[in-house]
Amino acid sequence: MKVWIDGEIVEGEEARIPVLDHGFLYGDGIFEGIRISGGRVFRLDDHLKRLGIASRCIGLPVPGGLEKLREIVLETARAHGQPEAYCRLIVSRGVGSLGVDPTTCSEPRVVCIVDAVRIYPEEKLRTGISMITSSFRRAAPDVLDPRVKSLNYMTSVLAKQEARRQGADEALLLNHDGHVAEASVANVFAVRSGVLLTPPATDGALEGITRRSVLQLAVEAGIPAGERSLGRFDLMGAAEVFLTGSGAGIVPVGSLDGQPTASGGVGPVTEQITERFRAFAAENGPEF
Ligand SMILES: Cc1ncc(COP(=O)(O)O)c(C=O)c1O
Repeated sequence: MKVWIDGEIVEGEEARIPVLDHGFLYGDGIFEGIRISGGRVFRLDDHLKRLGIASRCIGLPVPGGLEKLREIVLETARAHGQPEAYCRLIVSRGVGSLGVDPTTCSEPRVVCIVDAVRIYPEEKLRTGISMITSSFRRAAPDVLDPRVKSLNYMTSVLAKQEARRQGADEALLLNHDGHVAEASVANVFAVRSGVLLTPPATDGALEGITRRSVLQLAVEAGIPAGERSLGRFDLMGAAEVFLTGSGAGIVPVGSLDGQPTASGGVGPVTEQITERFRAFAAENGPEF
């Protein structure tokens, strides 16, 4: 693991942040999880754009601007040196007083971690993962906008914990209207009547970079695709269900709340999109 912190790149175990960093004290900060594939940083500029919007949403200026972050990511990826990896870019509020007031923090802190990518075992990518519907709901935008990738991941943590306690791999989060929002750290797709559907981000989902790529690839493959509000019913009735995220890629869902999904694992649309995505991921983004 290589970590860019305070202007230098160090080994993972040497990287330290002060206890008064408000990212640690209050989850006050934002981050991006970025896939490195085929020696390229996948859609780096899209990740930086999303981070830039999040920084405006929480009033956290990015030190040196997005161009500096771009250099940091590429430098850390180069130091790590592996063509397949995972990058975590974090901007925290930085060191301040013990109180919550962000104006006491003098300088935001940037940390960039590049590590080996961890995906589900091959077996799960064939049979599909098990998912439960979480009792935790995605917060409404006036509580904590799910489109801001902030360091506050407690809902995702608790939903994942709930899933693991029930022996499942993943958790499905609904919003307060009972519509599907997303999984703990991934977007949700369903194939119904030959149409590939994903909930609009305004139903409580992150505007995933993988999600957007999948929608684009579906159009290119001639698969009708689009955004639509979904209920748990739609997933139970779907021919295929899969999740998307930078870390795990495209992951078929084999069961929901103990009920096998219709495809009971990877289905034809999921397989086709996964195939296309593999090539797409290795072609899109700057080399390092
Ligand atoms: C809550 C949440 N939803 C969805 C996603 C998927 O987004 P992306 O494809 O940009 O990684 C993530 C990313 O890890 C996430 O944390």
